[in-house]
Amino acid sequence: MSNKSTATRRKTPLRNAFYAQSGGVTAVINASAAGVIETARRYPRQIGTVYAGRHGIIGALTEDLIDTSLESPATIKALRHTPSGAFGSARFKLKGLEQNRAEYERLIEVFRAHDIGYFFYNGGNDSMDTALKVSQIGEALGYPITCVGIPKTVDNDLPLTDCCPGFGSVAKYIAVSTREAAMDVASMARTSTKVFVLEVMGRHAGWIAAAGGLAGSKASDAPHVILFPEIAFDKPAFLAKVKHSVDTNGYCVIVVSEGTHYADGRFLAEAGTRDAFGHAQLGGVGPVVANMVKEELGYKYHWAVADYLQRAARHIASKVDVEQAYAVGKAAVEFAIAGRNAVMPAIIRKSSKPYRWSIEAVPLAAVANVEKTVPRNFITADGFGITAACRRYLEPLIAGEDYPPYKNGLPDYVRIKGKSVRRKLKTTWKP
Ligand code: F6P
Repeated sequence: MSNKSTATRRKTPLRNAFYAQSGGVTAVINASAAGVIETARRYPRQIGTVYAGRHGIIGALTEDLIDTSLESPATIKALRHTPSGAFGSARFKLKGLEQNRAEYERLIEVFRAHDIGYFFYNGGNDSMDTALKVSQIGEALGYPITCVGIPKTVDNDLPLTDCCPGFGSVAKYIAVSTREAAMDVASMARTSTKVFVLEVMGRHAGWIAAAGGLAGSKASDAPHVILFPEIAFDKPAFLAKVKHSVDTNGYCVIVVSEGTHYADGRFLAEAGTRDAFGHAQLGGVGPVVANMVKEELGYKYHWAVADYLQRAARHIASKVDVEQAYAVGKAAVEFAIAGRNAVMPAIIRKSSKPYRWSIEAVPLAAVANVEKTVPRNFITADGFGITAACRRYLEPLIAGEDYPPYKNGLPDYVRIKGKSVRRKLKTTWKP
């Protein structure tokens, strides 16, 4: 969907660009960075140098900029197969202009000093909110800047885009791991472990948990139970389902989302800390659920928390995901040089079989702070599995492999030189 009415169009002369990674990183966020930098290099008359913020927006506020022009074409190309955030990411929420004008004035001071006219912000929901706020400073504070958000989040919860770069690779890792661990427990179940629990990410949206469902295709296949944040946890129903699976299949594999909560909203497991956005840090629901099973049903169990392994797993990335991550970075630059302000490149699904997609600009205002959760018709009536519609949606997103090169038996990932741009300002800023 394109929205030319809410986004401002303007032509800008040769200016530098600022690119930042924001929020939790993914296996493919660097592919978006490669898309931005390689595309910008093809437009030397519009974009001078791409400066990357060291640790995201913090790099802009502290004038800690990385000169990407000093990175070789080979390094930028290798970002496409390198996980993590090569430039450093940050969880940092800009307040509104009215609440903290000083932060915006500081941004402009830094942008002006380095002649930055393009702002590319690569992140999830909260980051699109930041991108939107920055897109507004042009008019509010009289500094011309073209701002484009670049979608990224393993949680897959941004609206208007069919999926979010980063998700397909986590989905693939979780589906693969669930299938492999299920084969292991099936071998052991007669005399040893009967229950295996895999905890996956996804704070408020169960997309990653749903992806675990791709591991099997028949009712008897693992996972036998999926716990979604979208469905309030019902302990008796859960235990009955686990018992039924052990009675009929000999074992039970459970995929549990870190965001699983009771009907009153309490998470089953909350680490007790909060991030800069006020989100509870989650983690540990896997052992909570496993203990519940042991105490009530007495089954021997193993559990695993996929945690950072899942979002760093570039070795088993989805080819589609890598392609889309690169494409949104490339499109962001193309939109920006066409003067599209306050937009985000969204992935539009044209068909599922064969899978066809395109990129269109959507307004940041419609994306910021909106969470897309798993719709009820993607979850089976009993609340513990995925439907055929969900499978149709998910399958194309994990399609294909894009293995990184290997050296001495390990993936050969790149590290940037990360050379700093010489500071021009006398003033400093403390986060
Ligand atoms: O960015 C999304 C996410 O990966 C969530 O699924 C997870 O809850 C969170 O980030 C973890 O964040 P952090 O790495 O800051 O603890």
